[in-house]
Amino acid sequence: MALRTIRVEGDPVLNKKCRTVEKMTPRLKELIADMYETMYEYNGVGLAAPQVGVLKRIVVIDLTGDEPITLINPEIIETSGEQTSDEGCLSVPGMAGQVTRPNYVKIRACNEDMEPFEMEGEELLARAFCHEVDHLDGKMYTSLVVGGLHEVQDEPEEEA
Ligand code: NI
Repeated sequence: MALRTIRVEGDPVLNKKCRTVEKMTPRLKELIADMYETMYEYNGVGLAAPQVGVLKRIVVIDLTGDEPITLINPEIIETSGEQTSDEGCLSVPGMAGQVTRPNYVKIRACNEDMEPFEMEGEELLARAFCHEVDHLDGKMYTSLVVGGLHEVQDEPEEEA
């Protein structure tokens, strides 16, 4: 495994639409392992492949540090409710801003073995699903922030 360089806002790779993964390969498995290592190193709770410069529909999420969720080709298939709170991103280090997201999100994705599954999330997990799927479509959370970005003083908790 190896740490990858996290691309920061302004890098055009973050504004491109990612390609569907057609089949799993050893190289993509290595990418996924590297994405986890990189996310944990920078205390993130989620990371999308374009954030390390790879335009493929791959996401890793871990809200607690020991519940890794790998999403290949994730799609949001159901949402409900609403939540508004601070959101951050490893590609916008040290900053956060208020974003409104659905409070419940159901996704369909494949796991690392390309087996399809569905998963439901509420609150922070629902937010992470939306934030990361947006990355795969070249969309940064900063375009959704209401009221401007602010600096995060302490160690950011929810950068994705
Ligand atoms: Ni992000």
